[in-house]
Amino acid sequence: MKNIVQASYFISAILFIMGLKMLSSPTTARKGNLLAGLGMIMAIAFTFLIPGMKHHLLMIVVIIIGTAIGWVSAKKVPLTDMPQMVALFNGMGGGAAAVISYLELSRGEIVSGLRLLAILGGLIGSISFSGSIGAFMKLQRLIGDRPITYSLQKPFHAFLLLLSLSLGYFVFIDYTLSLPVIMNILIFFFVVPLLLGFLITLPIGGADMPVVIALFNAATGLAVGFDGFAIGNQAMMVSGVIVGASGSLLTYLMAKAMNRSIANVFFGAFGKLSEHEVVKEMKAREVEDASIMLGFARKVIVVPGYGLAVAQAQHKLMEFMDVLEDKDVEVKFAIHPVAGRMPGHMNVLLAEANIPYDKLYDLEEINPEFSTADVALVVGANDVVNPAAETDPSSPLYGMPILKAYQSKNVLVIKRGRGKGFAGIENDLFFMDQTYMVFGDAQDVLGKLVQAIKKI
Ligand code: TAP
Repeated sequence: MKNIVQASYFISAILFIMGLKMLSSPTTARKGNLLAGLGMIMAIAFTFLIPGMKHHLLMIVVIIIGTAIGWVSAKKVPLTDMPQMVALFNGMGGGAAAVISYLELSRGEIVSGLRLLAILGGLIGSISFSGSIGAFMKLQRLIGDRPITYSLQKPFHAFLLLLSLSLGYFVFIDYTLSLPVIMNILIFFFVVPLLLGFLITLPIGGADMPVVIALFNAATGLAVGFDGFAIGNQAMMVSGVIVGASGSLLTYLMAKAMNRSIANVFFGAFGKLSEHEVVKEMKAREVEDASIMLGFARKVIVVPGYGLAVAQAQHKLMEFMDVLEDKDVEVKFAIHPVAGRMPGHMNVLLAEANIPYDKLYDLEEINPEFSTADVALVVGANDVVNPAAETDPSSPLYGMPILKAYQSKNVLVIKRGRGKGFAGIENDLFFMDQTYMVFGDAQDVLGKLVQAIKKI
């Protein structure tokens, strides 16, 4: 029976890897997700067959509860709140790893090499659990999404980390002490990293949260992997290592796209700035004027951003593309890697509306083309087109690669009002000579533009 279980874990691992590979392209992503899910179902089902496995009924009950919660929340949560959900689910993984470590360590039978792995799994899992909960609370604005800082914050965190490591060491070497003492140390060993995980998210601004969530995701993978080795479960080892590696890569890529180091994300208190208000005038344009500018253009580059997701205007954008193409206008979409609120947010939205993938261009590909565009149409984007990222060293966005919409002959911006982007700062693009604002909800304005362009 043990061999059958191991073989099933091996097949699950292959499914995870194939699923992950397929997630790298929008055309295969859905299938990849299903394949990885199938791998997970298989791993869970065969776990029931592990010789000596007890509490089958209890396992079934918690699986049903977990599945119901996961299913309902995945169906209900709007795309814009997806980062929170990922944070929460990721936290559950870290928490589960910590609980496994706790149970293994409290049994007092585990040999020293494996004990070390269980300790590492417990430490990292606890930090990842409470850190992810902190990230969730920030993104949900339950504790405000601005950085929370206080004096001696970093030394205090360093102290908690040192204390966690010392307690871990104590659990490791004093394992032969009588069990009640061990239990007390164990409890502190889990409580301190739990506190640390939550506190380290406080000085991090909301805009940096996705990077942090990806990092906690990698940490959860690592914790699960360590626990897998500690309890000799191959499925946990493999999936933990895969999640750890992919989470690390995602963290690196996101930090690179925002031009920030991981240390800067954790200690930079991004978003905590003394804002200098720029009192300038934006030039508003009516839909009719904007439609003439667009209808007679040769080339239009659309820059979608978070506002497109809020307005759910992706289908209108597709119609907009169609009417322009009917008038022989070339339309391209410029995709910034951190536009929106989660990796691939714009790709997902545009794919939902069946906008062809070959019209979507990455930052490096499209930036040289803005100077040849008649109109850059910014739809609910702000930070990703903010020239301050290139020109103002004091700006929190400074150094982030941006879409160079400002190089276009004309810039049309669809947004509701003077609302700021995630970084909470003013955008000089909106006040430039060639920029005109078309105020309103993106879905509403695009709908009106479609009608107006048809009449030209
Ligand atoms: P943002 O800078 O957040 O700007 C979005 C703009 O959309 C706002 O200025 C808002 O202005 C407008 N808007 C909101 N609702 C709208 C609606 N219904 N219709 C029309 N416009 C609407 O968006 P962005 O340019 O996509 O930049 C993303 C930012 O989020 C970056 O700072 C990035 O670092 C950060 N971030 C990214 C991620 C990932 S991984 N993608 C995750 C979290 C945070 P009004 O209020 O005036 O309408």
